[in-house]
Amino acid sequence: MKLFVTGGAGFIGSQFIRFMLRKNPDTQIVNFDKLTYAGNLDNLKECEGNPRYAFVRGDIANAAQVRKALSGGGFDAIVNFAAETHVDRSIGSPSDFLNTDIFGTFCLLEAVREFGIPRYIQISTDEVYGTVPVGSCTETAPLNPSNPYSASKAGGDLLALSYFRTYRTPVLITRASNNYGPNQYPEKFIPLATTNALDNRPIPLYGDGMQIRDWLFVEDHCRAIQTVLMKGKEGEIYNIGGDQERPNREIAEMILALLDKPNELVRHVADRPGHDTRYSLDCSKLKKLGWHPTIPVEEGIRRTVEWYRDNRWWWEKIKSGEFKQYYQEHYGHRLDESTTPDKEDEQ
Ligand SMILES: NC(=O)c1ccc[n+]([C@@H]2O[C@H](COP(=O)([O-])OP(=O)(O)OC[C@H]3O[C@@H](n4cnc5c(N)ncnc54)[C@H](O)[C@@H]3O)[C@@H](O)[C@H]2O)c1
Repeated sequence: MKLFVTGGAGFIGSQFIRFMLRKNPDTQIVNFDKLTYAGNLDNLKECEGNPRYAFVRGDIANAAQVRKALSGGGFDAIVNFAAETHVDRSIGSPSDFLNTDIFGTFCLLEAVREFGIPRYIQISTDEVYGTVPVGSCTETAPLNPSNPYSASKAGGDLLALSYFRTYRTPVLITRASNNYGPNQYPEKFIPLATTNALDNRPIPLYGDGMQIRDWLFVEDHCRAIQTVLMKGKEGEIYNIGGDQERPNREIAEMILALLDKPNELVRHVADRPGHDTRYSLDCSKLKKLGWHPTIPVEEGIRRTVEWYRDNRWWWEKIKSGEFKQYYQEHYGHRLDESTTPDKEDEQ
C-alpha cells in the first residue's frame, strides 16, 4: 500500500507513520507536512534512510503544492492529519485554523477527485460534538463545536461528507478523543504538566480542573486508524475513544505522584472561555470492526511520563524556542493570579 500522509511530522501523524512502517513491511509512505511550529522531524528520526519513507515539505492549503506532490505517485490512500490543533491558539488567532483545517481539507478533497485516489481518511476529533453533559455521542450526534478549532474541524468533516454525497469521493472520517503519549508538543495538557513537573515549575490547571476527557493512548489511536483504513466503509464516520474518562485534575495528580512531586505544584488559573466540561464517545461502531482500546490510562500515563523523563533532549529545545513566548503570553498573567489547591480550600 502506498500512503500519502499529511501532517506526519506532528504528534499523532509521526506515530502513525512509524507504526505503519513497522507493522506493514509492504507499506510505502510519503509524509507531506508544512513544518509549522508543531511539526518536528525529530519525531521521525527512526525513519531516516528507510527506502519506504519520503518527506516532502508542503502546505495542504496550497493546491499547486498538493498537486505536485501527488502527481505520478500512484497513491492508494490519503490520511489527513495536517491541522492547526491547539484550542487556546485558535481562540487567540483563528485564521490559520480556518485556512488549514477547512480550506486545506478542500484542497485535498479536490486532489482526491482529480487523481482518482481510492481512499481518503479525514482525521477528526470528538471536540466537534461539543460538551456532552451525560451519556455518550454516537456518530450521528449533532455537531456543536465550542471554539474556532473544533468549529474548523467540524467544517472540514462536513465538507468531506458533502464530497462523498455529491461526487462519491471515497471519504472516511475518524473522530478521536484526547490523545496522549510520547512526542506530543508541550503546549498540550499532559506533556505541559509532565515537563513543568520535571522542572519543579507550577502546573497551570484551568478552572477547577474537573473537566472530563476520555484519554486515548496514541498507539491505540494509530491501530484504530489502520482498522478504518483497511475495513472502514466509504462515507462513514468512526468514533475512537479510550474508554478512560478522567477529570484533568486527577491526571495532573497522577503525573505528580509518578514523579514524586507535591500536589502543590498545581495552580488553578482562569478558565478557558467556552471550555467544554465533558467529552464522551460511543465507539461501538468501530468495535464491530474488531478494534478495542488496550492501554489503561494509568499505564499510558506511566509510559508517557517515563518517555518525557528520559527524552529531555526532545522537549528542552522546544520549550526554549517559540514556545517560551507563547507560554508567557498565554499563562503569564494567569499564573500571577493563580491559586494553589490549599489556598482555594481556604477561600
Ligand atoms: N491531539 C489530539 O488529542 C487529537 C485528538 C483527536 C483528533 N486530533 C486530530 O489529529 C490530527 C493530528 O493532531 P496532532 O495532535 O498530531 O497535531 P500536531 O499539532 O502535533 O501536528 C500537526 C501537524 O500538521 C502540520 N501542519 C499544520 N498545518 C499544515 C498545513 N497547512 N499543511 C501541511 N501540514 C500542516 C504541522 O506541521 C504538524 O506536523 C489533527 O487533525 C487533529 O485535529 C488530535
